[in-house]
Amino acid sequence: VAAAPGCSLLAGTPQPQLLASAAPLPKPYAVPLPVPEVAKPVRGAGGADFYELTEKAADVEVLPGLRTQMWGYGGQFPGPTIVARSGRKTVVKLVNQLGVPTVLHLHGGHTPPESDGFPTDLVAPGASREYVFPLEQRAATLWYHDHRMDYTGPQVWRGLAGMFLVRDAEEEALPLPAGERDLPLLICDRSFAADGTLLYPALGNRPGVQEGYMGGVLGDVILVNGAPWPESRVARARYRLRLCNGSNARTYELATGGPMVQIGTDGGLLSVPRTVRRIRLSPGERADVIVDFSAYKIGQHVELRNLAGEGAQARVMRFAVDRDEADDSAVPQRLSTVEALDPGKATVTRDFEFSSGSMHGGTGWLINGRPFDPKHMEARPKLGDVEIWRLTSDVAHPVHLHLDHFQVLSVNGERPAGPPEWKDTVELRDAQTVEIVTRFTDYRGRYVLHCHNLEHEDMAMMASFEVV
Ligand code: C2O
Ligand code: CU
Repeated sequence: VAAAPGCSLLAGTPQPQLLASAAPLPKPYAVPLPVPEVAKPVRGAGGADFYELTEKAADVEVLPGLRTQMWGYGGQFPGPTIVARSGRKTVVKLVNQLGVPTVLHLHGGHTPPESDGFPTDLVAPGASREYVFPLEQRAATLWYHDHRMDYTGPQVWRGLAGMFLVRDAEEEALPLPAGERDLPLLICDRSFAADGTLLYPALGNRPGVQEGYMGGVLGDVILVNGAPWPESRVARARYRLRLCNGSNARTYELATGGPMVQIGTDGGLLSVPRTVRRIRLSPGERADVIVDFSAYKIGQHVELRNLAGEGAQARVMRFAVDRDEADDSAVPQRLSTVEALDPGKATVTRDFEFSSGSMHGGTGWLINGRPFDPKHMEARPKLGDVEIWRLTSDVAHPVHLHLDHFQVLSVNGERPAGPPEWKDTVELRDAQTVEIVTRFTDYRGRYVLHCHNLEHEDMAMMASFEVV
């Protein structure tokens, strides 16, 4: 995804731009892969688990030998991993000790509207708020991050993101790799000043308005779980890698050079596993894959590369195979049942056009010709209804729907190959029409649909809808 040099607001559609670090790029594979700690509930009572997440600034060593001030949940970047159970209520008390308002969103959560992190439901500096997640949904790899209107890009860039795993009995009954061989990998890119400070084109200002970066900000250092191009020591055994693209604007095509068995996507398990050589992930998307390192010898290195990147950004991380280990895991031929939503049951087909255009006297990103207006409802689906949403675009946008997962019906008129799967984010490529089908089953209320390129999102590519 090379940035178009010299692209401006006036000349064509802006593409994501590489922001070059002034700090020397660290040596790849020199830092061990960190695994974020699993959050401990402060209490569990009455069928619910209670967590407390305090947002605060912390000096952390991201680049070896340098200090970077990050904003982190619990002062950590990424934040702690929350491991929750399907159907068991999880309550997160967010305490904001930063100097700016924040909003917490559980990406992929089927969440009541007051806890979904609507972009204007701000938690002021010094204030706190309880978010209630009933998690009436199947096991899946979710993540949580900031969602403040106009400022999500810079605030996530500063570090406000973490993983959130939902488990259920169906998945636990499968012999998939577990424990230390179930690895969440939050992948994102950042750029650094010479002293280790984070660079962002509009930090401290209204984000996105800086000319040249309207298309999105690409960092030149690839981080996995907060560490630059890390190395993970692995046994000759199967591992479950929960890949999550937490980048602001970078799309990856991940490959190990060997086969990977994909078992899940945004909305949990696939019905059957599928063997792939590469996985494309646009911002916000997740993929659950099994990699069998017993195919390698002790002493071998397996690189996870990004086929969509060039130079240093073509590297992501490396696995160093360093021991034998007993492995009774397996990938069953049948993983789950994924109901195919019937488009014939749809009550309506709605159109959403993603484009650039003028807004508030400048240029921004629009949905159906409109910049984000939290009060304007672009759609009012009825609770329980099946709807088809037709998304079109002239340039690439990762489109994310809150509240309910969806299935992709067609891409430029073609049905996708393979059985249906549950997604919450889908990449519109250049000049594409993607039809999705969903059922608004969970809650009435106000939600959003938006581009997950966070600079596009901050530059107003978001629409509200209300389930009535
Ligand atoms: Cu991952 Cu509306 O966000
Ligand atoms: Cu976009």
